[in-house]
Amino acid sequence: MNAGGDEDDAVLAAGRIGAAGERWGAATGVARAQGANALDFGRGLHGGSVPRPSRGSMTGAAASPELRRRGHSATIGADAHAALFVAFPGPASSLSTPPTPPDPPMQTIAITGANRGIGLATAQTLAADGHRILLLCRDERRGRRALATLPPLHGEARHHLVLCDLASLESVREAARRILDPDRPLDALVNNAAALPRQRTLSRDGFELQLAVTHLGHFLLTHILLPLLRRGAARAGKSRIVTVSSAAHAGPPFDFDDPHCERRRYRRTQVYQQSKLANVLFTAALARRVAGEGVEPVALHPGVYDTEILRDYLGRGAAGGAVRTFVGTDPDRAGPILAALAAGRRDEALAGKYLDKSVVTKPSRAARDRDAQERLWAWSLEAVGLGGRDG
Ligand SMILES: NC(=O)c1ccc[n+]([C@@H]2O[C@H](COP(=O)([O-])OP(=O)(O)OC[C@H]3O[C@@H](n4cnc5c(N)ncnc54)[C@H](OP(=O)(O)O)[C@@H]3O)[C@@H](O)[C@H]2O)c1
Repeated sequence: MNAGGDEDDAVLAAGRIGAAGERWGAATGVARAQGANALDFGRGLHGGSVPRPSRGSMTGAAASPELRRRGHSATIGADAHAALFVAFPGPASSLSTPPTPPDPPMQTIAITGANRGIGLATAQTLAADGHRILLLCRDERRGRRALATLPPLHGEARHHLVLCDLASLESVREAARRILDPDRPLDALVNNAAALPRQRTLSRDGFELQLAVTHLGHFLLTHILLPLLRRGAARAGKSRIVTVSSAAHAGPPFDFDDPHCERRRYRRTQVYQQSKLANVLFTAALARRVAGEGVEPVALHPGVYDTEILRDYLGRGAAGGAVRTFVGTDPDRAGPILAALAAGRRDEALAGKYLDKSVVTKPSRAARDRDAQERLWAWSLEAVGLGGRDG
């Protein structure tokens, strides 16, 4: 059973959806029918926003999901007040002491690779802050387990699990189709998932797997979800696309002659570098295309954390373990960093930028190459079957 409510309603799985109420869009109708519109979906009285649960004593890098959950539920009284205050702002001006301003509104944020590591930590932090999370995961069991760790939301709002295998363009399209609903704008998309196979492996579509998961799957997903992010920006002023890259992006230029590593020897760390470079190139090219629309794409090196991918990257032997102990911190600490970027203050100056944790940083020379950014964009459009389009 998940913490977000009815089990099946919370899972938006390609091929598993039967009843109308199980769809994301249909769930909107269910909630509307239950009179949850003003509180849950934020139109009407709130003019597009919903008061979110007060943070109180929760969150912080060291707070466990359990602690955050407890802090969350301890603030319900304050939230009820905030809801009333926002709904009926008139009398507030006549109070002798100014009321506490309401917390920022709830946002809807989609996160890929959200079942473990940095993605899960980000989902937990954002959920503890009262935001609605769409967890995009490829495995239902792992996804459900992650969903169950998220603090529940107020009222009828629910977190959702959306099955999405980024190594399959078909699965990405299907996941995006489940999410697409003009009435449910997205405030942020966090492109976080990555793969690091030891041997050269091909995706369902015949792409080298790292490039498929880390870049091409996210490229297509972002494209399809862009209308929702534009709507999120139109509603709230801004929306954000956080693509999790890595300091490891700094390496040779993108190999347009052999992107899928067909002719050169497969060296997975080099291929990892290439896929992370693609994340930064993509972000810069995307920022140019959405400039002035309120959609802010950023690329991020999140820091170094002791997760599966780092274990794979450094090796699981004694030497790798020693390095990990030295450099890798608890992935829970990544949550607040990514959450602040995904849901925090919007800033047009960040659009297209690369951040090292919270600091805007110059990416590698290869990543700053505008020709490479544009060439990758055009190449990726062709690869995912969107050739001929540009935005
Ligand atoms: N950890 C670090 O020190 C570090 C440093 C710099 C950058 N990063 C970046 O941070 C991001 C998150 O990595 P992490 O450290 O949290 O690693 P992680 O714990 O290994 O998480 C990777 C996530 O990606 C998902 N994933 C893999 N293949 C997928 C596919 N085909 N479709 C959908 N999801 C897939 C995994 O799901 P499954 O459980 O189903 O495999 C998992 O949820 C990655 O982009 C990574 O490159 C990490």
